[in-house]
Amino acid sequence: MKIIPGISARGLAARIAAELGCKAASCEFKRFPDGELYTRIVDDVKDEELVIVQSIRADSDLICLLQLIDAVEEAVKTKVVIPYLGYARQDKKFKHGEAISVRAIARSISAAGVVDTIYVVNVHNKAVLKYFDVDTKELDAAPLIGDYVAKKEIAHPVIIGPDGGATELAKAVATPRRFDYDVLAKKRISSEEVEIKPKELSVEGKNVVIVDDIISTGGTISEAASLLKAQKANDIYVACVHGVFVQNAISRMHNAGVKEIIATDTIESEFSRVSVAKMVAEELKKQS
Ligand code: R5P
Repeated sequence: MKIIPGISARGLAARIAAELGCKAASCEFKRFPDGELYTRIVDDVKDEELVIVQSIRADSDLICLLQLIDAVEEAVKTKVVIPYLGYARQDKKFKHGEAISVRAIARSISAAGVVDTIYVVNVHNKAVLKYFDVDTKELDAAPLIGDYVAKKEIAHPVIIGPDGGATELAKAVATPRRFDYDVLAKKRISSEEVEIKPKELSVEGKNVVIVDDIISTGGTISEAASLLKAQKANDIYVACVHGVFVQNAISRMHNAGVKEIIATDTIESEFSRVSVAKMVAEELKKQS
């Protein structure tokens, strides 16, 4: 087996290769003067079993993935790992005339070449996997986040999802380590007043870990952190699977009272404290 590192996942690809005890192929990426991306797999990978690893964070990451799938046409078998599948939040038409962006992306990947299986890590909405015309498997990084939180020895952490959409993630982070978990929910106090607080638990005097699948602008987390601070939570940590971190997301979260930010390496950043490499490698071993 050989790993083909895409432009957006070179560090993670190297870690997956190390876990598998196999080689990561040498690839060349550059831009033509007009901005088009040039992609080349330098090593000879003919007749090999290959695993392409490429997150889709920027638009050009999709181009790179399509190029890599096209370039490995003589492989025996090709698997694709997409640690972060961007555009997954545009999973339906919210307004008339909109594209279902993730469907367009899934279709283009499915048509780019012969792919055996596609692996994704915590896709925003699992239902979108039906848009791929290839076998898919979703891997769950939530227990890895739970393990990291446990190692930090935060006293009695409470895992909080910032909204109902994060319920499953909060549960999956908390359950293996037997942490308490809850999600923030709106409660109508009167016709003029709405209160947002954890559905069941009190956070007063407790250390909280807010978990979400994606942090982009940090708006969702900042709002949640401010609300939890107002309810007298003690230290507030934030953990996500995919740290997109655009604009002033980091300072915004710190200004809202967040003590520490934790992300995985599906998107590499200085906050990538949790690696999904071992989990991906173990899955690839099972399927080879
Ligand atoms: C939304 O459904 C997602 O789960 C995240 O809560 C959202 O994408 C976070 O975005 P932002 O950081 O911009 O608030």
